[in-house]
Parts: sequence; structure tokens; C-alpha cells
Amino acid sequence: VTAMPPTRAPQGAGGHVGYGKIILLGEHSVVYGRRAIAAPIGLTVRAEVGRGTPGQAPIITDWDADGSVQEPISADVSHRVATLIAARLGLPQSGVRVDVFSELPRASGLGASAAFAVALIRATAECFSIRLSDEQVSSLAFECEKIVHGTPSGIDNTVATFGRPILFKKTDAPSGHEIRDIVTPNPIPIVIGLTGMHALTSHTVAAVRAAWQQRPARYDAIFDQIDSLVGEGADALRRGDTVELGELMNINQGLLNALQVSSPELEQMVAIARRAGALGAKLTGGGGGGAMIAVAGSAGAEPIRAALRGAGYTTYLTEIR
Ligand code: MEV
Repeated sequence: VTAMPPTRAPQGAGGHVGYGKIILLGEHSVVYGRRAIAAPIGLTVRAEVGRGTPGQAPIITDWDADGSVQEPISADVSHRVATLIAARLGLPQSGVRVDVFSELPRASGLGASAAFAVALIRATAECFSIRLSDEQVSSLAFECEKIVHGTPSGIDNTVATFGRPILFKKTDAPSGHEIRDIVTPNPIPIVIGLTGMHALTSHTVAAVRAAWQQRPARYDAIFDQIDSLVGEGADALRRGDTVELGELMNINQGLLNALQVSSPELEQMVAIARRAGALGAKLTGGGGGGAMIAVAGSAGAEPIRAALRGAGYTTYLTEIR
């Protein structure tokens, strides 16, 4: 018997957050041990956890911004994530009630699943008075991401936990992944555009894997090229060189297209953004739909946002800082 959730969101701004993210350069190749750059965006997932009936499956309610209940993208996946978290925290039979408040559009390549896992881990730990380091939060969120994505690189859960721009390289070393902070001299405005097409990262990651397994040398060469763009991109960010960053993003988009993870809507948005003055534009995250990012030129972000809105797309503005 499932308890009926209340029909309005509970009041109060308590709970714990995980950060949504964009990948500036290097998605997909990062799964194969190449570097990538990611940064948090100002949108989070927040979770509140209360004790439920011991022995009962987790009860998860997803709240929309207007306070109404929203359908989970996959209730089964959310339950498996919550059950894994309870088991790993030594609470297999505790029973939890979870309220989830997401500012992040879901299945859009903006890291909503990792942000959900991080928020839920933090809120569950607090509810049961368990102290966790950020490293422990991130590593448990990585296990959750395996349920959602299959073979995640670890970049999404890292940014969802730490909420800072990073240069990331997956390693199998016991010391963990290589993670470096990236500090820019000035905030860099980035326009995010949503295609409105839900895309599951697990699908595009699996498609790239199948291609790579057929022709590893061919695809490794593309991954290597992306890796060198990422290295140059980290330098450009540290100098605050948005012209160089934009060019690197444009080339990265070409290589993502070569990996066949772009889509007609993404290509259209990239073209609109560049025409409206963006220094560079590319898909971000898994692709196949989802989101595009553009770095604004001297005319600023507004003409890019207006042009994308004019074509019917939803936009957000964020800053790399
Ligand atoms: C997803 O945000 C980024 C991918 O590279 C997958 C991953 O790194 O886990 C597509």
C-alpha cells in the first residue's frame, strides 16, 4: 500500500542541494579517460528527507516549481537510487520519505540525475545524523550514476557535489580521478538553450561505445583531438580569453557531430547562436537532444537569447566564475 502524497509542496527552504552543470568541452571523450571541463550552473536539485515507515520502500515525491506534483522521468530509477543510498549508508530497512524540488530541466544534459543523487545523499545523511565528506558524497553519487547511465565518467557527480568549475580526468587509480579547479579572471556569460527534446545520456553514451568498439583507432583519434582542445580550453579560461574558448567550443561541436551525438535541433540552435554573435556554441552533456551552450561575444548574451527565444527555444543565462 502506497501512502498518498500531499497535493501541495511542503513549505520551507530546508533540505540539501546538488548542483546542475554544463560541460564546456570534452563530453563523451571524458568517458574514455580524456580530459573535460565542467562548471556548475545556478540551478540545483534540492531534497528533503524524513523518516518513513521502517521496512517500507522509499516514498519519493517530485515537486514542480509551481508547487504541484510532477511525474518522475523514471520512478523505478529514482527508487533504485534511493534504495542504494539507504543501503550504502547502513540504513537498508529504515524507510524514508523524500521530497524533491528541481530547478533543473530533466533529461536535458544538465546533470539533473547527478544533482538528484547528491541532494538525496546529503539529505538522507542529515536525517540519520551521518557525517559524510564531500568526497564520500561524490563517490556514492557516482555509484548512483551507474544505475542511471551505465558507464559514467564521474564528472557529473563531481560538479554536482563540489559546485565549482573543474578540469576533470577519469582514472582508475586508487587516489581517484584527477580534478583541478579552474579559476577565471572575470565571470564568463554562457547562454544555455534547451532543445525541448528529452535525451537519455545512457543512450548516446551506449551509441558512442558501440562505434568505438567497432573501430577503436578511428574513435580514439577523435577523443585525442577533443582532449587537446580541452587542454587549450583550460588555458583560455584561466586567461579569460573568450574568443579562444569560443573557437575551441566550435571545433568541439564539429567533433561531437563526428561522434553523431548532435541532432537537427542542436545544429539549428548552434547556427542561431553563432549568427546572433556567439563566439562559440556547442551541445553540452550527452547530446541527442538536451541542451546547447553558447559563449557571448561583445554584444552580450541578450541578442543570443532573443534569437533562440524567437525560434521557440527556452534559454537560461549562467556565468562561469
Ligand atoms: C554527461 O554529462 C557527459 C558524458 O560525457 C557522460 C559522462 O561523462 O558520464 C556524455
